[in-house]
Amino acid sequence: MKALVVYYSRTGNTKQVAEMIAGELKADLEELVDKKDRRGLLGYLRSGRDAVRDKTTELKPLQRQSSDYDLIFVGTPVWASRPAPAVRAFLESQDLSGKRVALFCTMASRGEEATFSTMRMLFPQAEVAGQLAVAMRKENRSQIEERVAQWVTPWKSKD
Ligand SMILES: Cc1cc2nc3c(=O)[nH]c(=O)nc-3n(C[C@H](O)[C@H](O)[C@H](O)COP(=O)(O)O)c2cc1C
Repeated sequence: MKALVVYYSRTGNTKQVAEMIAGELKADLEELVDKKDRRGLLGYLRSGRDAVRDKTTELKPLQRQSSDYDLIFVGTPVWASRPAPAVRAFLESQDLSGKRVALFCTMASRGEEATFSTMRMLFPQAEVAGQLAVAMRKENRSQIEERVAQWVTPWKSKD
Protein backbone atom coordinates (compact mmCIF):
# COMPACT_ATOMS: atom_id res chain seq x y z
CA MET A 1 0.00 0.00 0.00
CA LYS A 2 1.26 3.45 -0.90
CA ALA A 3 1.64 6.10 1.77
CA LEU A 4 1.63 9.86 1.31
CA VAL A 5 3.77 12.28 3.34
CA VAL A 6 2.26 15.76 3.42
CA TYR A 7 4.21 18.55 5.08
CA TYR A 8 4.76 22.25 5.38
CA SER A 9 8.23 23.63 6.06
CA ARG A 10 9.31 27.26 6.30
CA THR A 11 13.02 26.70 6.92
CA GLY A 12 13.66 23.09 5.91
CA ASN A 13 13.53 21.11 9.18
CA THR A 14 10.13 19.51 8.66
CA LYS A 15 11.05 18.90 5.01
CA GLN A 16 14.11 16.91 6.17
CA VAL A 17 12.01 14.69 8.43
CA ALA A 18 9.34 14.30 5.73
CA GLU A 19 12.00 13.14 3.29
CA MET A 20 13.36 10.65 5.83
CA ILE A 21 9.88 9.14 6.33
CA ALA A 22 9.22 9.02 2.59
CA GLY A 23 12.64 7.48 1.97
CA GLU A 24 12.06 4.73 4.54
CA LEU A 25 8.60 3.84 3.22
CA LYS A 26 9.07 4.72 -0.46
CA ALA A 27 6.10 7.01 0.04
CA ASP A 28 5.00 9.93 -2.12
CA LEU A 29 5.68 13.47 -0.92
CA GLU A 30 3.42 16.51 -1.02
CA GLU A 31 4.86 19.83 0.09
CA LEU A 32 2.23 22.35 1.14
CA VAL A 33 3.03 25.76 -0.32
CA ASP A 34 1.56 28.73 1.53
CA LYS A 35 0.62 31.61 -0.74
CA LYS A 36 1.52 34.05 2.03
CA ASP A 37 5.12 35.28 2.06
CA ARG A 38 6.65 34.02 5.30
CA ARG A 39 10.32 34.73 4.58
CA GLY A 40 12.58 36.84 6.76
CA LEU A 41 11.90 38.62 10.01
CA LEU A 42 8.62 40.08 8.85
CA GLY A 43 7.48 36.63 7.73
CA TYR A 44 8.50 35.21 11.09
CA LEU A 45 6.50 37.82 12.99
CA ARG A 46 3.49 37.40 10.71
CA SER A 47 3.68 33.64 11.12
CA GLY A 48 3.70 33.84 14.91
CA ARG A 49 0.74 36.21 14.88
CA ASP A 50 -1.22 34.01 12.45
CA ALA A 51 -0.51 30.88 14.48
CA VAL A 52 -1.61 32.45 17.77
CA ARG A 53 -4.86 33.54 16.13
CA ASP A 54 -5.44 29.99 14.80
CA LYS A 55 -5.48 31.38 11.27
CA THR A 56 -5.79 29.27 8.19
CA THR A 57 -4.23 30.31 4.89
CA GLU A 58 -4.43 29.79 1.12
CA LEU A 59 -2.41 26.95 -0.36
CA LYS A 60 -1.05 26.53 -3.86
CA PRO A 61 -2.90 23.66 -5.62
CA LEU A 62 -1.96 20.21 -4.34
CA GLN A 63 -0.18 17.72 -6.61
CA ARG A 64 -1.60 14.57 -4.98
CA GLN A 65 -5.02 13.46 -3.81
CA SER A 66 -5.24 12.15 -0.29
CA SER A 67 -8.19 9.97 -1.39
CA ASP A 68 -5.67 7.81 -3.30
CA TYR A 69 -3.91 6.80 -0.09
CA ASP A 70 -4.87 4.84 3.03
CA LEU A 71 -1.99 6.00 5.18
CA ILE A 72 -1.20 9.70 5.29
CA PHE A 73 1.59 11.37 7.25
CA VAL A 74 1.05 15.03 8.07
CA GLY A 75 3.99 17.12 9.27
CA THR A 76 4.23 20.64 10.61
CA PRO A 77 6.68 22.93 12.34
CA VAL A 78 5.44 23.92 15.79
CA TRP A 79 4.46 27.58 15.78
CA ALA A 80 3.50 28.98 19.18
CA SER A 81 2.53 25.43 20.25
CA ARG A 82 0.26 25.10 17.24
CA PRO A 83 0.38 23.68 13.71
CA ALA A 84 1.37 26.09 10.94
CA PRO A 85 -1.60 27.70 9.12
CA ALA A 86 -0.76 25.75 5.93
CA VAL A 87 -1.23 22.45 7.77
CA ARG A 88 -4.42 23.71 9.38
CA ALA A 89 -5.67 24.66 5.89
CA PHE A 90 -4.80 21.20 4.56
CA LEU A 91 -6.52 19.33 7.40
CA GLU A 92 -9.60 21.52 7.20
CA SER A 93 -9.94 20.95 3.46
CA GLN A 94 -9.60 17.16 3.42
CA ASP A 95 -12.05 14.40 4.07
CA LEU A 96 -9.90 11.91 5.91
CA SER A 97 -12.74 9.60 6.98
CA GLY A 98 -11.55 6.05 7.30
CA LYS A 99 -7.90 6.98 6.71
CA ARG A 100 -5.02 6.23 8.97
CA VAL A 101 -3.17 9.44 9.71
CA ALA A 102 0.23 9.71 11.38
CA LEU A 103 1.35 13.09 12.68
CA PHE A 104 4.84 14.50 12.98
CA CYS A 105 6.27 17.85 13.93
CA THR A 106 9.58 19.61 14.32
CA MET A 107 10.21 22.31 16.88
CA ALA A 108 13.03 24.08 18.68
CA SER A 109 12.21 22.41 21.97
CA ARG A 110 8.55 22.29 23.05
CA GLY A 111 4.88 22.55 22.18
CA GLU A 112 4.25 19.21 20.50
CA GLU A 113 1.36 18.04 22.71
CA ALA A 114 -0.79 21.10 22.11
CA THR A 115 0.15 21.01 18.41
CA PHE A 116 -0.89 17.37 18.01
CA SER A 117 -4.11 17.81 19.93
CA THR A 118 -5.09 20.79 17.74
CA MET A 119 -4.30 18.75 14.64
CA ARG A 120 -6.38 15.81 15.87
CA MET A 121 -9.36 18.09 16.47
CA LEU A 122 -9.21 19.14 12.81
CA PHE A 123 -9.89 15.63 11.49
CA PRO A 124 -11.92 13.75 14.12
CA GLN A 125 -13.06 11.19 11.50
CA ALA A 126 -9.66 9.60 10.96
CA GLU A 127 -7.70 7.17 13.06
CA VAL A 128 -4.44 8.58 14.44
CA ALA A 129 -1.90 5.88 13.76
CA GLY A 130 1.08 7.54 15.45
CA GLN A 131 2.82 10.74 16.45
CA LEU A 132 6.47 11.76 16.25
CA ALA A 133 7.93 14.99 17.61
CA VAL A 134 11.47 16.07 16.76
CA ALA A 135 13.20 18.73 18.88
CA MET A 136 15.86 20.21 16.63
CA ARG A 137 17.86 21.66 19.52
CA LYS A 138 18.14 18.31 21.26
CA GLU A 139 18.93 15.85 18.46
CA ASN A 140 21.44 15.67 15.63
CA ARG A 141 20.68 14.37 12.16
CA SER A 142 21.75 10.78 12.75
CA GLN A 143 19.73 10.58 15.97
CA ILE A 144 16.71 11.89 14.09
CA GLU A 145 17.25 9.41 11.26
CA GLU A 146 17.43 6.56 13.73
CA ARG A 147 14.25 7.62 15.50
CA VAL A 148 12.37 8.09 12.23
CA ALA A 149 13.46 4.64 11.03
CA GLN A 150 12.20 3.09 14.28
CA TRP A 151 8.95 5.03 14.20
CA VAL A 152 8.01 3.87 10.69
CA THR A 153 8.88 0.20 11.29
CA PRO A 154 5.27 -0.95 11.96
CA TRP A 155 4.14 0.42 8.60
CA LYS A 156 7.02 -1.25 6.81
CA SER A 157 6.20 -4.74 8.00
CA LYS A 158 2.40 -4.47 7.86
CA ASP A 159 2.03 -2.91 4.45
C1 LIG B 1 6.40 31.71 14.17
C2 LIG B 1 7.19 30.61 14.83
C3 LIG B 1 6.81 30.12 16.06
C4 LIG B 1 7.53 29.08 16.68
N1 LIG B 1 7.08 28.58 17.88
C5 LIG B 1 7.76 27.54 18.46
C6 LIG B 1 7.28 26.92 19.68
O1 LIG B 1 6.21 27.25 20.22
N2 LIG B 1 8.04 25.92 20.23
C7 LIG B 1 9.22 25.49 19.68
O2 LIG B 1 9.85 24.62 20.24
N3 LIG B 1 9.67 26.02 18.48
C8 LIG B 1 8.97 27.02 17.87
N4 LIG B 1 9.40 27.54 16.68
C9 LIG B 1 10.58 26.93 16.03
C10 LIG B 1 10.16 25.94 14.92
O3 LIG B 1 9.13 25.08 15.35
C11 LIG B 1 11.34 25.06 14.50
O4 LIG B 1 12.43 25.83 14.12
C12 LIG B 1 10.91 24.11 13.37
O5 LIG B 1 11.79 23.02 13.30
C13 LIG B 1 10.89 24.83 12.04
O6 LIG B 1 10.50 23.93 11.04
P1 LIG B 1 10.71 24.24 9.49
O7 LIG B 1 12.21 24.44 9.27
O8 LIG B 1 10.21 23.04 8.79
O9 LIG B 1 9.96 25.48 9.15
C14 LIG B 1 8.68 28.56 16.05
C15 LIG B 1 9.07 29.06 14.79
C16 LIG B 1 8.32 30.07 14.17
C17 LIG B 1 8.73 30.55 12.80
